[in-house]
Amino acid sequence: MAQDYKADDEVLGKAYDSKLMKRLLGYVKPYKKYMAFAIVLNIIVAAFGPLRAVLTKVAIDDNIKGKDYHGLLMVTLAMIGTLVFQAVMQYYLTYYTQLMGQRIIYDLRVKLFAHIEKLALKYFDKTPIGRIVTRVTNDIESLNEMFSSGIVNVFSDIFIVIWILGFMFFMDWKLSLVTLSVFPFLIYGTFLFRKKVRDSYRDVRFHLARLNSYMQEHVTGMGVVQIFNKENEELKRFSSINADYRKVNIDSIFYYAVFYPAVEFLSSIALALIIWYGGGEIIHNTMTIGVLFAFIQLIDQFFRPIRDLSDKYNIMQTAMASSERVFKLLDNNTFVKNPEVPVELKKVEGKIEFRNVWFAYNGDDYVLKDISFNITPGQTVAIVGATGAGKTSLINILTRFYDINKGKICLDGIDIKDMDKRELRKFISIVLQDVFLFSGTIKSNISLNSPEITDEKIIEAAKSVGAHKFISQLPKEYDEEVKEKGATLSVGQKQLLSFARALAYNPQILILDEATSSVDTETEILIQRAIEKLLVDRTAIVIAHRLSTIQNADQIIVMHKGEVREIGKHQELLAKRGIYYKLYQLQYKDQEVTRTA
Ligand code: CTP
Ligand code: MG
Repeated sequence: MAQDYKADDEVLGKAYDSKLMKRLLGYVKPYKKYMAFAIVLNIIVAAFGPLRAVLTKVAIDDNIKGKDYHGLLMVTLAMIGTLVFQAVMQYYLTYYTQLMGQRIIYDLRVKLFAHIEKLALKYFDKTPIGRIVTRVTNDIESLNEMFSSGIVNVFSDIFIVIWILGFMFFMDWKLSLVTLSVFPFLIYGTFLFRKKVRDSYRDVRFHLARLNSYMQEHVTGMGVVQIFNKENEELKRFSSINADYRKVNIDSIFYYAVFYPAVEFLSSIALALIIWYGGGEIIHNTMTIGVLFAFIQLIDQFFRPIRDLSDKYNIMQTAMASSERVFKLLDNNTFVKNPEVPVELKKVEGKIEFRNVWFAYNGDDYVLKDISFNITPGQTVAIVGATGAGKTSLINILTRFYDINKGKICLDGIDIKDMDKRELRKFISIVLQDVFLFSGTIKSNISLNSPEITDEKIIEAAKSVGAHKFISQLPKEYDEEVKEKGATLSVGQKQLLSFARALAYNPQILILDEATSSVDTETEILIQRAIEKLLVDRTAIVIAHRLSTIQNADQIIVMHKGEVREIGKHQELLAKRGIYYKLYQLQYKDQEVTRTA
């Protein structure tokens, strides 16, 4: 798994990719005014630092030498003026660039989430949750960094350097060339550093991902770790992963620790050269002392953007890699396709027909083979079969979570592929094998925040499936908080809640994938009664594990290794002495014994 992470998440490419950049700039379009404003402001603000150095020259060479007090005061005031102006502009610049960055990533995040919601379940079967979460959080965040500081600051740094060079050559081109003699070393050093940092940065990310996934998995499985007394072993493994992470971090600190002093060293050399050469020129009267002063200031300003450039490089590189991953997700079109002109459905009777249906999750590895059966409106149909026989798959294709490979599924005589999938799902409610609860309240978990499902309807549904009793014993009753995945509720309670949810939606067709987990007898009776309530007045397909449900069914469909092998009623099928008879002997007969005991 860790290897997998490296493959997709930690590949760092170029710091600038024109194709990706073009697409990213598409998101800037609505805010191009901010962008233009920021760039223009940057060009102006960048000039102020170097300008002050030139003003120093004027003060020294003209005012001080010429004993011009008034002029000196004016120049000093001008210096203070530029400082104030620069501070104010800096405020606007920071504010508007951050604002732009935040708005762009808000848009992108919404777009990404909307896209993820549309993806077919097939995609989620194959993609770890952590990876999808990373796209919407970390990856988008690194784009924010690029939009709000990266791009704009790169511009300002470039302009600072250009202004400084301009002022330098304007004052004294020879001294400028002497100063710039350290430049090749600087470029070479930065290049080396960039390469080293890039490699170590990739290692840091890789080990961090390892640490995160290890943490996530173990917190989720804490119960298993504790029951098998694996705390010490797991701690040892964690320590070793953590030690790897520490090592790569220390490596990367090493490069920074070398790079910054190296830049400092080169800037001191440049300063020494200025003083040596400039001083000589002053002695020979070919240069003024003011120029020397100005150069000393300029050289200091010159090295800062160069030093920062390596940070900017990292920001850009991370952003490019992130945007590539985000776009890859946005370009993923694993959708369950809707027809161009869907057949309109006003009402549904509930007649279901499977005609020679073939289905595979992968390639032609069929898990359902040539399935055919009919369900008339109002019938309750039980589907039975060994584990892995294809029962859940059967309902996955009826709801179009997945599309079938061959054959046809019809609802009221209309092919479900010709319907809008949202319309189709309006008529179907599903109670899954593992109940899924969202964090929220009991109420919101029954209504799923649908405005049509009023409080009265919620309570009515809960009463009718027998969930009202336990809910009214909760401190806040229907407003009781439900934790993520319903961790504070028992298995039976969660099931009753999911029944109430299905009933509140009052669907024409109900699909129930009975859970196999056993509950106490009292809850079992509650659940049985709830199921009976759920099944009245609608077409129902139940993947049954309870003998009671099966015995009451109008039709039992027996699945075996992806095929329908027998169809009939309980007594008929028993009389056949086929697969159902065997299943009954193995699985269901015991239930009869325990219930009557
Ligand atoms: N399967 C798959 N990909 C999925 C889900 C299931 O390849 N996303 C495969 C399973 O490995 C299994 C077959 O499809 O071999 C049928 O699975 P399913 O319909 O879920 O079996 P059930 O009959 O529902 O089994 P159970 O009683 O255990 O729920
Ligand atoms: Mg199943």
